[in-house]
Amino acid sequence: MFRRLHEGVAVPITVDGRSVEAREGDSVAAAMLAAGITICRTTVQGAPRAPYCMMGACFDCLVTIDGVGNRQGCMVKVASGMRVDRDTRRVRRRRRRRRSRGPRRGERVRALRPLDRAAG
Ligand code: FES
Repeated sequence: MFRRLHEGVAVPITVDGRSVEAREGDSVAAAMLAAGITICRTTVQGAPRAPYCMMGACFDCLVTIDGVGNRQGCMVKVASGMRVDRDTRRVRRRRRRRRSRGPRRGERVRALRPLDRAAG
């Protein structure tokens, strides 16, 4: 459905842990569309949302980029090693399942500070 108007240098990124080869100068949303990933997020009711305007007006391209949520994918250029996470029902379910299982083997868990020490 989508095709590039120009080929640039390949830039590796990951989308939901899947390797995607973007091109230098691509926005995150354009790289995802070119890779066949059309859904960026789902609404609370479960309706899928895909990049629409590609110019920062509709906010249908919100994704998590390198751990920072609610970034407009159409307004951020790809960078090598960038990690993009969508906010779809399936991804949310997977995250919830992973959280309920507890930390994976070898995963570090940050210790919480006691509230009284944090307050004063
Ligand atoms: S596609 Fe509309 S704001 Fe990004």
